[in-house]
Amino acid sequence: MADEDLEKAPQGAHGSGEVGHVSVLLKEAIDFLAIRRGGTYIDATVGLGGHSYEIASRLGPQGHLIGFDKDTNALKLAELKLSRIGGDDRPKITLLHSSYAELPQSVPPASADGLLADLGVSSLQFGDPARGFSFQAEGPLDMRMNPQGDRTADQVVNRMREEDLANVIYEFGEERRSRRIARAIVRARPIRTTAHLAQVISAALRSMKHGAHEKIHPATRTFQAIRIYVNRELDDLKALLEAAPDVLRSGGRLVVISFHSLEDRIVKDALRDGGKAGIYNVLTKKPVEASEEEIDRNPRSRSAKLRAAEKV
Ligand SMILES: C[S@@+](CC[C@H](N)C(=O)[O-])C[C@H]1O[C@@H](n2cnc3c(N)ncnc32)[C@H](O)[C@@H]1O
Repeated sequence: MADEDLEKAPQGAHGSGEVGHVSVLLKEAIDFLAIRRGGTYIDATVGLGGHSYEIASRLGPQGHLIGFDKDTNALKLAELKLSRIGGDDRPKITLLHSSYAELPQSVPPASADGLLADLGVSSLQFGDPARGFSFQAEGPLDMRMNPQGDRTADQVVNRMREEDLANVIYEFGEERRSRRIARAIVRARPIRTTAHLAQVISAALRSMKHGAHEKIHPATRTFQAIRIYVNRELDDLKALLEAAPDVLRSGGRLVVISFHSLEDRIVKDALRDGGKAGIYNVLTKKPVEASEEEIDRNPRSRSAKLRAAEKV
């Protein structure tokens, strides 16, 4: 996820989502899902329910939406939003507080007509300093999407061995100055808040020459890395992509929106391999990106890449 883009996301803007959250590539995702009335669709990342709402309102009473999210707060808000689809047109809606990595345990094989995953953090999570995702706000070192999750940013920042910390920052942040940052963090322990952490990172990099093109905040990559590690994001994504062909029916669609190159590479490889193995027809030769107009309206969409495939 491009945390830098999230920092710029419109707070208080109302799109198809709520409380400052605007769903990214909404129309494109719905188009690629090619929603069939009466079908069964999975929203692996319900968030505030923006995409879920658009899916559910096209399903009709015979349809079924199954939604996953790790975040109980998000699910409560999504439930409220989805309750607006009322009356005779309301499909069956099942919301699960679970990781999408658990997909095979909750969804029978060959039962879904479509699966959407809109990866990363929601603006609800990012915009609340108490969740500890933002480097521009004073908050606890938390960063858990699942408030009951076992790993926290505090453990990573204050307890991890320096070498392991450098590896996390390098691997999940693609940060080449990882050793220098890890050393500065270890020296500054205990670090208690997100703002303190951002300050330690900025100070560690201040003396270094930056490329002229470097426009992002110096803490962006390190925060991204810690967040990915805390939430096991890449492992979960790999598990989801492995399970997807089993839960999709023939002709079912897979649509994934990613927000940084690590995620996109995993999605791209999974679709390409699925294509070669005759499992998928890949529908996006190149990833679909947000239009200028969407980026203006919602800077969070700037780094979004959508890839889609149809199960053969
Ligand atoms: C970008 S938001 C989704 C926004 C949503 N599409 C909307 O329109 O409101 C991503 C959501 O996915 C959730 N999430 C991230 N990884 C997850 C996982 N492994 N399992 C379940 N939910 C996850 C986050 O908690 C967050 O609420």
